[in-house]
Amino acid sequence: MAEKLAIHGGRPTVPPGMIKPWPHITDEDRRAVMEVLEAEDINEQRRIQFEGLSREWAEYLGVRYCIPTNSGTAALHMCVAALGIGPGDEVILPAFTFWASAAAVLHHNAIPVFVDIEPKTFCIDPSKIEEKISERTKAIMPVHVHGMPADMDPILEIAGRYGLKVIEDAAQAHGARYKGRLCGTMGDVAGFSMQMSKPLTTGSEGGLFVTDDELYYKRAALLQYFGELVIPGREREDQEYNAYGLGWMYRGDVFGQAFARSQLRRLDEYNAWRIRNCNFLTEHLSKIPGIETPYVPPEREPVYYNYVVGVKPEELGLDVHPRVLRDKVQEALKAEGVPVGLWQRMPVPAQEVFQAKVGYGRGCPWSCRHYSGRVEYREEDYPVAKAFLDSHFYVYGINPPNRLELMKLYVEAFEKVMDNLEELI
Ligand SMILES: Cc1ncc(COP(=O)(O)O)c(C=O)c1O
Repeated sequence: MAEKLAIHGGRPTVPPGMIKPWPHITDEDRRAVMEVLEAEDINEQRRIQFEGLSREWAEYLGVRYCIPTNSGTAALHMCVAALGIGPGDEVILPAFTFWASAAAVLHHNAIPVFVDIEPKTFCIDPSKIEEKISERTKAIMPVHVHGMPADMDPILEIAGRYGLKVIEDAAQAHGARYKGRLCGTMGDVAGFSMQMSKPLTTGSEGGLFVTDDELYYKRAALLQYFGELVIPGREREDQEYNAYGLGWMYRGDVFGQAFARSQLRRLDEYNAWRIRNCNFLTEHLSKIPGIETPYVPPEREPVYYNYVVGVKPEELGLDVHPRVLRDKVQEALKAEGVPVGLWQRMPVPAQEVFQAKVGYGRGCPWSCRHYSGRVEYREEDYPVAKAFLDSHFYVYGINPPNRLELMKLYVEAFEKVMDNLEELI
Protein backbone atom coordinates (compact mmCIF):
# COMPACT_ATOMS: atom_id res chain seq x y z
CA MET A 1 0.00 0.00 0.00
CA ALA A 2 1.22 3.52 -0.82
CA GLU A 3 2.59 5.49 2.11
CA LYS A 4 0.03 7.71 3.84
CA LEU A 5 0.21 11.41 2.98
CA ALA A 6 1.43 13.65 5.82
CA ILE A 7 -1.66 15.81 5.34
CA HIS A 8 -3.65 12.71 6.38
CA GLY A 9 -1.49 11.83 9.33
CA GLY A 10 1.42 10.09 7.61
CA ARG A 11 5.11 10.79 8.26
CA PRO A 12 6.39 14.00 6.60
CA THR A 13 9.00 13.30 3.91
CA VAL A 14 11.32 16.20 4.82
CA PRO A 15 12.38 16.11 8.48
CA PRO A 16 11.94 19.41 10.36
CA GLY A 17 15.04 21.60 10.66
CA MET A 18 16.69 20.20 7.55
CA ILE A 19 16.21 23.22 5.27
CA LYS A 20 18.81 25.94 5.64
CA PRO A 21 17.76 29.55 5.06
CA TRP A 22 19.10 32.09 2.60
CA PRO A 23 21.45 33.94 2.68
CA HIS A 24 24.07 31.36 3.48
CA ILE A 25 26.31 33.24 5.93
CA THR A 26 29.91 32.22 6.55
CA ASP A 27 32.68 33.42 8.88
CA GLU A 28 34.07 35.42 5.97
CA ASP A 29 30.83 37.46 5.88
CA ARG A 30 30.87 37.91 9.66
CA ARG A 31 34.46 39.14 9.50
CA ALA A 32 33.63 41.58 6.70
CA VAL A 33 30.88 43.21 8.76
CA MET A 34 32.96 43.15 11.98
CA GLU A 35 35.81 44.93 10.20
CA VAL A 36 33.48 47.85 9.54
CA LEU A 37 32.40 47.94 13.19
CA GLU A 38 35.93 47.68 14.47
CA ALA A 39 37.40 50.30 12.15
CA GLU A 40 38.46 53.49 13.85
CA ASP A 41 36.39 55.75 11.62
CA ILE A 42 33.02 54.46 10.43
CA ASN A 43 32.55 57.53 8.26
CA GLU A 44 35.65 56.56 6.30
CA GLN A 45 34.22 53.03 6.06
CA ARG A 46 31.15 54.46 4.32
CA ARG A 47 33.36 55.68 1.50
CA ILE A 48 35.49 52.51 1.44
CA GLN A 49 32.52 50.11 1.29
CA PHE A 50 30.57 52.25 -1.22
CA GLU A 51 33.54 52.62 -3.55
CA GLY A 52 34.58 48.99 -3.07
CA LEU A 53 31.16 47.61 -3.94
CA SER A 54 30.78 50.04 -6.89
CA ARG A 55 34.12 48.94 -8.30
CA GLU A 56 33.70 45.22 -7.67
CA TRP A 57 30.16 44.95 -9.12
CA ALA A 58 31.17 47.02 -12.16
CA GLU A 59 34.18 44.72 -12.63
CA TYR A 60 32.05 41.60 -12.24
CA LEU A 61 29.69 42.81 -14.97
CA GLY A 62 32.36 44.47 -17.10
CA VAL A 63 30.58 47.86 -17.10
CA ARG A 64 31.98 51.32 -16.42
CA TYR A 65 29.68 52.61 -13.66
CA CYS A 66 27.87 51.21 -10.65
CA ILE A 67 26.06 53.02 -7.83
CA PRO A 68 25.03 50.99 -4.77
CA THR A 69 21.57 52.04 -3.51
CA ASN A 70 19.24 51.29 -0.62
CA SER A 71 16.87 49.17 -2.76
CA GLY A 72 16.34 47.67 -6.19
CA THR A 73 13.32 49.93 -6.66
CA ALA A 74 15.57 52.95 -6.07
CA ALA A 75 18.07 51.62 -8.64
CA LEU A 76 15.26 51.17 -11.19
CA HIS A 77 13.89 54.64 -10.48
CA MET A 78 17.41 55.97 -11.10
CA CYS A 79 17.40 54.06 -14.43
CA VAL A 80 14.19 55.79 -15.50
CA ALA A 81 15.45 59.23 -14.45
CA ALA A 82 18.91 58.65 -15.96
CA LEU A 83 17.35 58.16 -19.39
CA GLY A 84 15.52 61.48 -19.12
CA ILE A 85 12.11 59.77 -19.00
CA GLY A 86 9.40 61.88 -17.36
CA PRO A 87 5.84 63.21 -17.49
CA GLY A 88 3.93 62.13 -20.58
CA ASP A 89 6.36 59.33 -21.48
CA GLU A 90 5.52 55.63 -21.62
CA VAL A 91 7.69 52.66 -20.64
CA ILE A 92 6.85 49.13 -21.80
CA LEU A 93 7.26 46.28 -19.32
CA PRO A 94 5.91 42.77 -18.67
CA ALA A 95 2.55 42.21 -16.99
CA PHE A 96 4.15 39.54 -14.82
CA THR A 97 6.75 41.06 -12.52
CA PHE A 98 6.94 42.59 -9.05
CA TRP A 99 5.04 45.87 -8.79
CA ALA A 100 8.37 47.66 -8.09
CA SER A 101 9.26 47.54 -11.83
CA ALA A 102 6.16 49.60 -12.61
CA ALA A 103 6.53 51.74 -9.47
CA ALA A 104 9.96 52.88 -10.69
CA VAL A 105 8.28 54.23 -13.85
CA LEU A 106 5.48 55.95 -11.90
CA HIS A 107 8.02 57.46 -9.47
CA HIS A 108 9.22 59.66 -12.31
CA ASN A 109 5.75 60.57 -13.49
CA ALA A 110 5.89 58.28 -16.50
CA ILE A 111 3.27 55.72 -17.54
CA PRO A 112 3.77 51.91 -17.43
CA VAL A 113 2.37 50.06 -20.45
CA PHE A 114 2.18 46.31 -19.99
CA VAL A 115 2.87 43.43 -22.36
CA ASP A 116 1.96 39.76 -21.87
CA ILE A 117 4.65 37.13 -21.22
CA GLU A 118 6.10 34.18 -23.13
CA PRO A 119 4.24 30.99 -22.18
CA LYS A 120 7.39 28.97 -21.48
CA THR A 121 9.89 31.30 -19.79
CA PHE A 122 7.45 33.80 -18.20
CA CYS A 123 9.52 36.77 -19.40
CA ILE A 124 8.14 39.58 -21.60
CA ASP A 125 6.99 38.29 -25.01
CA PRO A 126 9.00 40.23 -27.62
CA SER A 127 6.45 39.41 -30.33
CA LYS A 128 3.83 41.46 -28.44
CA ILE A 129 5.94 44.57 -27.81
CA GLU A 130 5.53 46.42 -31.12
CA GLU A 131 1.75 46.66 -30.90
CA LYS A 132 2.18 48.61 -27.61
CA ILE A 133 4.65 51.18 -28.96
CA SER A 134 3.27 54.71 -29.38
CA GLU A 135 4.82 58.11 -30.10
CA ARG A 136 5.10 58.48 -26.31
CA THR A 137 7.13 55.31 -25.76
CA LYS A 138 10.66 56.03 -24.53
CA ALA A 139 11.92 52.71 -23.21
CA ILE A 140 11.37 48.98 -22.85
CA MET A 141 12.01 47.40 -19.46
CA PRO A 142 12.47 43.62 -19.74
CA VAL A 143 12.50 41.81 -16.40
CA HIS A 144 14.77 38.78 -15.94
CA VAL A 145 12.15 37.21 -13.74
CA HIS A 146 13.12 34.33 -11.41
CA GLY A 147 16.68 34.82 -12.65
CA MET A 148 15.63 33.76 -16.19
CA PRO A 149 17.09 36.15 -18.79
CA ALA A 150 14.49 37.79 -21.01
CA ASP A 151 14.84 37.21 -24.77
CA MET A 152 17.11 40.23 -25.22
CA ASP A 153 18.09 40.11 -28.91
CA PRO A 154 14.60 40.75 -30.36
CA ILE A 155 14.01 43.33 -27.60
CA LEU A 156 17.22 45.18 -28.48
CA GLU A 157 16.38 44.95 -32.17
CA ILE A 158 12.91 46.48 -31.65
CA ALA A 159 14.39 49.18 -29.39
CA GLY A 160 17.01 50.02 -32.02
CA ARG A 161 14.42 50.22 -34.82
CA TYR A 162 12.12 52.57 -32.84
CA GLY A 163 14.87 54.59 -31.15
CA LEU A 164 13.92 53.37 -27.67
CA LYS A 165 16.14 52.87 -24.63
CA VAL A 166 16.34 49.57 -22.74
CA ILE A 167 16.21 49.32 -18.94
CA GLU A 168 16.99 45.86 -17.58
CA ASP A 169 15.19 44.92 -14.39
CA ALA A 170 17.83 42.47 -13.20
CA ALA A 171 16.56 42.52 -9.59
CA GLN A 172 16.54 38.70 -9.46
CA ALA A 173 19.25 37.84 -11.97
CA HIS A 174 22.77 38.44 -10.62
CA GLY A 175 25.09 36.35 -12.75
CA ALA A 176 22.45 35.07 -15.21
CA ARG A 177 23.51 35.07 -18.88
CA TYR A 178 21.87 35.45 -22.28
CA LYS A 179 24.02 34.15 -25.17
CA GLY A 180 26.99 34.46 -22.85
CA ARG A 181 26.24 38.09 -21.92
CA LEU A 182 25.53 38.93 -18.29
CA CYS A 183 22.11 40.27 -17.37
CA GLY A 184 22.43 43.96 -16.62
CA THR A 185 24.99 44.59 -19.37
CA MET A 186 22.80 44.43 -22.48
CA GLY A 187 20.55 47.47 -22.11
CA ASP A 188 21.37 51.16 -21.59
CA VAL A 189 20.95 50.96 -17.82
CA ALA A 190 20.06 48.25 -15.30
CA GLY A 191 18.83 47.90 -11.74
CA PHE A 192 19.58 45.01 -9.37
CA SER A 193 18.00 44.35 -5.99
CA MET A 194 20.10 43.19 -3.04
CA GLN A 195 17.11 42.60 -0.77
CA MET A 196 17.54 39.64 1.56
CA SER A 197 16.13 36.93 -0.72
CA LYS A 198 18.16 37.87 -3.82
CA PRO A 199 21.12 35.87 -5.26
CA LEU A 200 23.42 38.73 -4.22
CA THR A 201 22.28 40.35 -1.02
CA THR A 202 23.19 42.78 1.75
CA GLY A 203 21.32 40.49 4.15
CA SER A 204 18.53 43.07 4.42
CA GLU A 205 17.84 45.80 1.82
CA GLY A 206 19.89 47.26 -1.02
CA GLY A 207 20.28 47.68 -4.76
CA LEU A 208 22.73 48.43 -7.57
CA PHE A 209 22.39 50.83 -10.50
CA VAL A 210 24.70 50.13 -13.46
CA THR A 211 25.45 51.67 -16.85
CA ASP A 212 28.25 52.18 -19.37
CA ASP A 213 27.15 55.72 -20.17
CA GLU A 214 28.70 58.66 -18.33
CA LEU A 215 25.69 60.97 -18.71
CA TYR A 216 23.27 58.34 -17.41
CA TYR A 217 25.62 57.67 -14.52
CA LYS A 218 25.77 61.36 -13.55
CA ARG A 219 22.01 61.82 -13.76
CA ALA A 220 21.47 58.71 -11.64
CA ALA A 221 24.04 59.86 -9.08
CA LEU A 222 22.32 63.26 -8.77
CA LEU A 223 18.95 61.68 -8.23
CA GLN A 224 20.36 59.30 -5.63
CA TYR A 225 21.46 61.92 -3.14
CA PHE A 226 19.32 65.05 -2.91
CA GLY A 227 20.37 66.36 -6.35
CA GLU A 228 24.09 66.66 -5.56
CA LEU A 229 27.16 64.59 -6.44
CA VAL A 230 28.61 63.68 -3.05
CA ILE A 231 30.69 60.61 -2.17
CA PRO A 232 29.53 58.92 1.05
CA GLY A 233 31.84 59.89 3.91
CA ARG A 234 32.87 63.12 2.14
CA GLU A 235 29.77 65.20 2.87
CA ARG A 236 31.73 67.81 4.85
CA GLU A 237 34.19 68.29 2.02
CA ASP A 238 31.87 67.95 -0.99
CA GLN A 239 28.40 69.09 -0.14
CA GLU A 240 27.27 72.52 -1.34
CA TYR A 241 23.68 72.08 -0.14
CA ASN A 242 22.60 73.18 -3.58
CA ALA A 243 20.36 70.65 -5.29
CA TYR A 244 21.14 70.60 -8.99
CA GLY A 245 17.96 68.68 -9.70
CA LEU A 246 15.16 66.79 -8.01
CA GLY A 247 16.83 64.33 -5.67
CA TRP A 248 15.88 61.48 -3.39
CA MET A 249 17.77 59.72 -0.60
CA TYR A 250 18.66 56.35 -2.07
CA ARG A 251 22.02 55.61 -0.48
CA GLY A 252 22.84 52.15 0.75
CA ASP A 253 24.04 51.08 4.17
CA VAL A 254 27.69 50.48 5.09
CA PHE A 255 27.20 47.12 6.85
CA GLY A 256 25.04 45.76 4.05
CA GLN A 257 27.60 46.84 1.48
CA ALA A 258 30.42 45.10 3.38
CA PHE A 259 28.27 41.95 3.61
CA ALA A 260 27.39 42.06 -0.10
CA ARG A 261 31.06 42.47 -1.09
CA SER A 262 31.90 39.37 0.90
CA GLN A 263 29.00 37.42 -0.65
CA LEU A 264 29.99 38.59 -4.13
CA ARG A 265 33.22 36.57 -3.85
CA ARG A 266 31.04 33.45 -3.75
CA LEU A 267 28.27 34.53 -6.14
CA ASP A 268 29.34 32.26 -9.01
CA GLU A 269 29.86 29.31 -6.68
CA TYR A 270 26.44 29.86 -5.07
CA ASN A 271 24.73 30.28 -8.44
CA ALA A 272 26.30 27.01 -9.66
CA TRP A 273 24.97 25.36 -6.49
CA ARG A 274 21.42 26.64 -7.14
CA ILE A 275 21.66 25.45 -10.75
CA ARG A 276 22.83 21.99 -9.63
CA ASN A 277 19.92 21.67 -7.20
CA CYS A 278 17.38 22.91 -9.74
CA ASN A 279 18.68 20.76 -12.60
CA PHE A 280 18.26 17.77 -10.33
CA LEU A 281 14.68 18.77 -9.55
CA THR A 282 13.91 19.29 -13.25
CA GLU A 283 15.43 15.93 -14.21
CA HIS A 284 13.20 14.08 -11.75
CA LEU A 285 10.04 16.19 -11.45
CA SER A 286 9.64 16.36 -15.23
CA LYS A 287 8.94 12.59 -15.20
CA ILE A 288 5.88 13.03 -12.98
CA PRO A 289 2.61 13.27 -14.96
CA GLY A 290 0.72 16.49 -14.25
CA ILE A 291 3.83 18.44 -13.22
CA GLU A 292 5.48 21.09 -15.40
CA THR A 293 9.12 21.98 -14.78
CA PRO A 294 10.97 25.11 -15.96
CA TYR A 295 11.88 25.34 -19.63
CA VAL A 296 15.35 26.74 -20.30
CA PRO A 297 15.96 27.93 -23.88
CA PRO A 298 19.45 26.91 -25.06
CA GLU A 299 20.70 30.50 -25.28
CA ARG A 300 19.80 31.35 -21.67
CA GLU A 301 21.57 30.54 -18.39
CA PRO A 302 19.18 31.30 -15.53
CA VAL A 303 20.36 31.52 -11.92
CA TYR A 304 17.14 30.19 -10.36
CA TYR A 305 16.26 32.94 -7.94
CA ASN A 306 13.16 30.79 -7.52
CA TYR A 307 12.26 27.32 -8.75
CA VAL A 308 8.86 27.42 -10.48
CA VAL A 309 6.59 24.41 -10.85
CA GLY A 310 3.32 24.22 -12.78
CA VAL A 311 0.41 21.78 -12.67
CA LYS A 312 -1.35 20.34 -15.72
CA PRO A 313 -4.71 18.82 -14.73
CA GLU A 314 -5.50 17.97 -18.37
CA GLU A 315 -2.48 15.66 -18.50
CA LEU A 316 -4.04 13.68 -15.63
CA GLY A 317 -7.50 13.61 -17.18
CA LEU A 318 -8.76 15.81 -14.36
CA ASP A 319 -11.58 18.21 -15.10
CA VAL A 320 -10.62 20.84 -12.49
CA HIS A 321 -9.31 24.37 -12.76
CA PRO A 322 -5.47 24.41 -12.49
CA ARG A 323 -5.83 26.61 -9.39
CA VAL A 324 -7.74 23.85 -7.60
CA LEU A 325 -5.12 21.22 -8.38
CA ARG A 326 -2.26 23.65 -7.63
CA ASP A 327 -3.66 24.57 -4.21
CA LYS A 328 -4.30 20.95 -3.23
CA VAL A 329 -0.82 19.86 -4.32
CA GLN A 330 0.73 22.79 -2.46
CA GLU A 331 -1.14 22.00 0.75
CA ALA A 332 -0.07 18.37 0.62
CA LEU A 333 3.56 19.28 -0.15
CA LYS A 334 3.66 21.71 2.76
CA ALA A 335 2.48 18.94 5.06
CA GLU A 336 5.29 16.77 3.65
CA GLY A 337 7.73 19.46 4.81
CA VAL A 338 8.45 20.94 1.37
CA PRO A 339 8.50 24.76 1.51
CA VAL A 340 6.24 25.87 -1.34
CA GLY A 341 4.24 29.02 -1.91
CA LEU A 342 2.95 31.68 -4.24
CA TRP A 343 4.42 35.03 -5.24
CA GLN A 344 2.35 37.35 -7.46
CA ARG A 345 -1.41 36.64 -7.35
CA MET A 346 -2.48 38.66 -10.40
CA PRO A 347 -0.90 40.39 -13.39
CA VAL A 348 0.53 43.73 -12.18
CA PRO A 349 -1.90 45.84 -14.29
CA ALA A 350 -4.80 44.12 -12.47
CA GLN A 351 -3.61 45.52 -9.13
CA GLU A 352 -5.77 48.12 -7.44
CA VAL A 353 -3.35 50.98 -8.04
CA PHE A 354 -3.78 50.58 -11.81
CA GLN A 355 -7.51 49.95 -11.62
CA ALA A 356 -8.07 53.06 -9.51
CA LYS A 357 -5.46 55.20 -11.30
CA VAL A 358 -5.26 57.59 -8.37
CA GLY A 359 -1.46 57.72 -8.27
CA TYR A 360 -0.12 60.89 -6.66
CA GLY A 361 -3.66 62.16 -6.22
CA ARG A 362 -6.07 63.71 -8.69
CA GLY A 363 -5.13 60.91 -11.09
CA CYS A 364 -1.50 61.94 -11.64
CA PRO A 365 0.47 60.85 -13.60
CA TRP A 366 -2.31 59.48 -15.87
CA SER A 367 -4.24 62.77 -15.73
CA CYS A 368 -1.07 64.88 -16.13
CA ARG A 369 -1.55 67.47 -18.89
CA HIS A 370 1.69 66.26 -20.50
CA TYR A 371 0.15 62.83 -21.03
CA SER A 372 -1.73 62.58 -24.29
CA GLY A 373 -2.43 58.82 -24.17
CA ARG A 374 -5.29 56.83 -22.63
CA VAL A 375 -3.72 53.64 -21.36
CA GLU A 376 -6.16 50.94 -20.22
CA TYR A 377 -5.29 48.27 -17.67
CA ARG A 378 -7.48 45.18 -18.26
CA GLU A 379 -6.57 41.84 -16.72
CA GLU A 380 -7.99 39.97 -19.74
CA ASP A 381 -5.35 41.56 -21.98
CA TYR A 382 -2.71 39.37 -20.32
CA PRO A 383 -4.06 35.81 -20.69
CA VAL A 384 -0.65 34.10 -20.59
CA ALA A 385 0.36 35.86 -17.38
CA LYS A 386 -3.03 35.02 -15.86
CA ALA A 387 -2.81 31.35 -16.85
CA PHE A 388 0.73 31.18 -15.46
CA LEU A 389 -0.34 32.73 -12.15
CA ASP A 390 -3.26 30.30 -11.83
CA SER A 391 -1.23 27.16 -12.42
CA HIS A 392 2.24 27.70 -10.90
CA PHE A 393 3.86 27.79 -7.49
CA TYR A 394 7.37 28.06 -6.07
CA VAL A 395 9.61 25.56 -4.36
CA TYR A 396 11.93 27.25 -1.86
CA GLY A 397 15.06 26.03 -0.18
CA ILE A 398 16.92 25.39 -3.45
CA ASN A 399 19.60 27.80 -2.21
CA PRO A 400 23.03 26.91 -0.77
CA PRO A 401 23.90 25.32 1.59
CA ASN A 402 21.02 22.93 0.80
CA ARG A 403 22.23 19.95 -1.20
CA LEU A 404 20.99 17.21 -3.49
CA GLU A 405 20.22 15.16 -0.39
CA LEU A 406 17.38 17.63 0.31
CA MET A 407 16.35 17.83 -3.36
CA LYS A 408 15.96 14.02 -3.35
CA LEU A 409 13.48 14.34 -0.49
CA TYR A 410 11.61 17.07 -2.40
CA VAL A 411 11.31 14.68 -5.36
CA GLU A 412 10.08 11.88 -3.05
CA ALA A 413 7.49 14.23 -1.60
CA PHE A 414 6.25 15.24 -5.05
CA GLU A 415 6.03 11.58 -6.10
CA LYS A 416 4.15 10.67 -2.94
CA VAL A 417 1.66 13.51 -3.35
CA MET A 418 1.07 12.95 -7.06
CA ASP A 419 0.68 9.18 -6.53
CA ASN A 420 -2.07 9.87 -4.00
CA LEU A 421 -3.95 12.58 -5.84
CA GLU A 422 -7.27 10.77 -5.67
CA GLU A 423 -7.16 11.24 -1.87
CA LEU A 424 -6.79 14.99 -2.36
CA ILE A 425 -9.26 15.77 -5.13
C1 LIG B 1 11.51 41.89 -10.46
C2 LIG B 1 11.79 42.85 -9.34
N1 LIG B 1 11.98 44.14 -9.62
C3 LIG B 1 12.28 45.03 -8.67
C4 LIG B 1 12.37 44.67 -7.34
C5 LIG B 1 12.62 45.71 -6.31
O1 LIG B 1 13.70 45.46 -5.49
P1 LIG B 1 13.70 45.96 -3.96
O2 LIG B 1 12.74 45.11 -3.20
O3 LIG B 1 15.12 45.77 -3.54
O4 LIG B 1 13.29 47.39 -3.98
C6 LIG B 1 12.20 43.33 -6.99
C7 LIG B 1 12.34 42.90 -5.58
O5 LIG B 1 11.77 42.09 -5.02
C8 LIG B 1 11.88 42.40 -8.01
O6 LIG B 1 11.68 41.12 -7.71
